[in-house]
Amino acid sequence: MARRKIIAGNWKMNMTPSEAKALVETLKDLVNNPEVDVVYCVPAIDIVPVVEAVKGTNVEVGAENMYIEEKGAYTGEIAPAMIVDAGAKYVIIGHSERREYFKETDEFLNKKVLKAFEHGLTPILCCGESLEQREAGVTLDWIRLQIKSDLQNVTAEQAASMVIAYEPIWAIGTGKTATTEQAEEVCKAIRETICEIYDEATAESIRIQYGGSMNAKNCDELLAQPDIDGGLIGGASLKPDFGRIVNYVK
Ligand code: PGA
Repeated sequence: MARRKIIAGNWKMNMTPSEAKALVETLKDLVNNPEVDVVYCVPAIDIVPVVEAVKGTNVEVGAENMYIEEKGAYTGEIAPAMIVDAGAKYVIIGHSERREYFKETDEFLNKKVLKAFEHGLTPILCCGESLEQREAGVTLDWIRLQIKSDLQNVTAEQAASMVIAYEPIWAIGTGKTATTEQAEEVCKAIRETICEIYDEATAESIRIQYGGSMNAKNCDELLAQPDIDGGLIGGASLKPDFGRIVNYVK
């Protein structure tokens, strides 16, 4: 069975609750594509208003982060049960900005992935290499290592249901998209790694996104690749361009 495409917006630290409601309204008619899963991953404080604003549409909501504990004395953190109760279905885990600025390690991210599954949230697990790593020729080894570390103790059934986003760090927010060949090569390697850890069926079922300056101009070619099942979109998710990506041309 063909995998359903999943186009997710990563709003990052943008949009106040009022701005968020206005953006959902602006995008409402543009993101209507029944053949594609559409997700808005939004700041925690926007989850409740955005869930409310997308009611009756095809859009699902995700968080951009969560903590690994159930509840308690972790000032400023967001518990998985809070995300679920607010109505979100997805959670981004291990975005390179969190790895870099907040020093999130693979060991910690593995705990987050397991915790997300415990609560029925679908993780969108991010991986990606730096420019130095790409130039040193270690991209594929690095990505395999990230995937294997982050998926420790994740079952085949869980892995089959999740999303992995390949986001080369040098392509994020830079306007410098990976070439179609580079993006497909890594997404294919991720699928092969999933096959190695689990089996063919799991590898065929897991959805792999490309992220990093995906926009209205380059989305058609990227989304036509056999191992690219969608996109994780930063900058362009805050604009009407997002609707064009959701309605990519086959
Ligand atoms: P970008 O961000 O589309 O602005 O490059 C992608 C991301 O960080 O998820």
